[in-house]
Amino acid sequence: MPETQSIPKCPEIKTALPGPKTKALIEQDQRYISPSYTRGYPLAIARGHGAMVQDPDGNWFLDFCAGIAVCSTGHSHPKVVSAIQEQAANFLHMSGTDFYYHAMADLAERLNELSAGRTPKKIFFGNSGTEAIEGAIKLARYHTGRPGIISFFRSFHGRTFGAMSVSASKSIQKSHFSPLVPHVYHAHYPYSYRPFFGAQSPEEEAEACLDYIRNYLFKMIAQPSDIAAILVEPIQGEGGYVVPPKNWLPGLRALCDEYGILMIADEVQSGVGRTGKMWACEHDNVEPDIMTSAKGLASGLPLGAIIAKADVMNWKPGCHATTFGGNPVACAAALATLDLVENGLMQNAECQGTYLQSQLQALVNQSNILGQVRGRGLMVGLEVIQSKTGNQKAPELRDKIVDACFEKGLLVLGCGENTIRFSPPLTIDSEDVDTAVAILKQVIAENGG
Ligand SMILES: Cc1ncc(COP(=O)(O)O)c(C=O)c1O
Repeated sequence: MPETQSIPKCPEIKTALPGPKTKALIEQDQRYISPSYTRGYPLAIARGHGAMVQDPDGNWFLDFCAGIAVCSTGHSHPKVVSAIQEQAANFLHMSGTDFYYHAMADLAERLNELSAGRTPKKIFFGNSGTEAIEGAIKLARYHTGRPGIISFFRSFHGRTFGAMSVSASKSIQKSHFSPLVPHVYHAHYPYSYRPFFGAQSPEEEAEACLDYIRNYLFKMIAQPSDIAAILVEPIQGEGGYVVPPKNWLPGLRALCDEYGILMIADEVQSGVGRTGKMWACEHDNVEPDIMTSAKGLASGLPLGAIIAKADVMNWKPGCHATTFGGNPVACAAALATLDLVENGLMQNAECQGTYLQSQLQALVNQSNILGQVRGRGLMVGLEVIQSKTGNQKAPELRDKIVDACFEKGLLVLGCGENTIRFSPPLTIDSEDVDTAVAILKQVIAENGG
């Protein structure tokens, strides 16, 4: 465990980037690692503490991406580390598919208590977001006996076949992998900054999106009685951190209820306190039939969950299982994570998120190349545009800004075509926000402002 005194509060860049040790690591990596990964800038990590990470050359960075919204409690939170150590010293694995242990049952009980809505839930554990989606699709088909799934343009649900088939984020993710899972239909998600239907208000755009499903998809493509589920991200993640208007999720819920369709909320990125509530769908008082969780759930250990209404999760023994899912060490990390999220971090996410958005809004007001800031809690997106006359996307400029932030010690990632995403650990304070915004401000000024 690193000494807290030796952890700086602000970035410290001491070498040219990447430094020599990082360069050597990247060369080794490139020799042996699959070229399919999407590495942007050359960051390597040697250690992390809270929101600060150090590379092998001794440079310190302020981390506003948290391993893609995963390190919810910050890097190596002492309470999470000690829960992991304690469980690891007891036993590492016993396959929850075949046997019983406390960490798995305790975590399921806890997720039932913390789940959105009041209906009792049952939980299935896997190892990742994509696996949770895969299982959710199987469960929806099993429960309803129907084949179809409706999901949305710009959505991202993972890389395995079912999850890839329902995603519609970037076509390269599907190219060369056909045939995909059939009976998947993509519909429009309300994106008020760039409304597909050109409606006057965000709420009217959401109505137009609902109307498309009802009057086009159901009438011309697939009968509602053939649809098992509508799968939706309560806030779109990889697609650009798109926050829908308040009537969207309730509208989908009503549509599902009308036709006996299950509503699946993919909370893999938006869940576990990131948006200021435990689950993003709670902002709109919607209880899904099935919810998926992963990423921030275990602070960095691999864990995914399907959280379904108990009467929906009615599949029989042998229908679905996995060797590693619900691993005891990952479950122990999740229990410690939920303690921290419930007792302060969720509230901090709301408070720091509001502050971050207000500081970014001030930058947007002054800048010709920043179009819109949006988000909930610490799930915040900032669109980079060519100029304020029109809002044409500027994907290359966005990438340049993300790279320039890295050079100055701020770690952010892109999402969507032209959005900068801010998904820091939920532990950050207002000084961290000020540091991040100051770096971004300088970078924006250096890039035509
Ligand atoms: C909303 C959402 N669902 C599913 C996934 C897939 O998760 P994983 O990468 O753990 O398979 C992601 C990953 O980014 C995601 O953002």
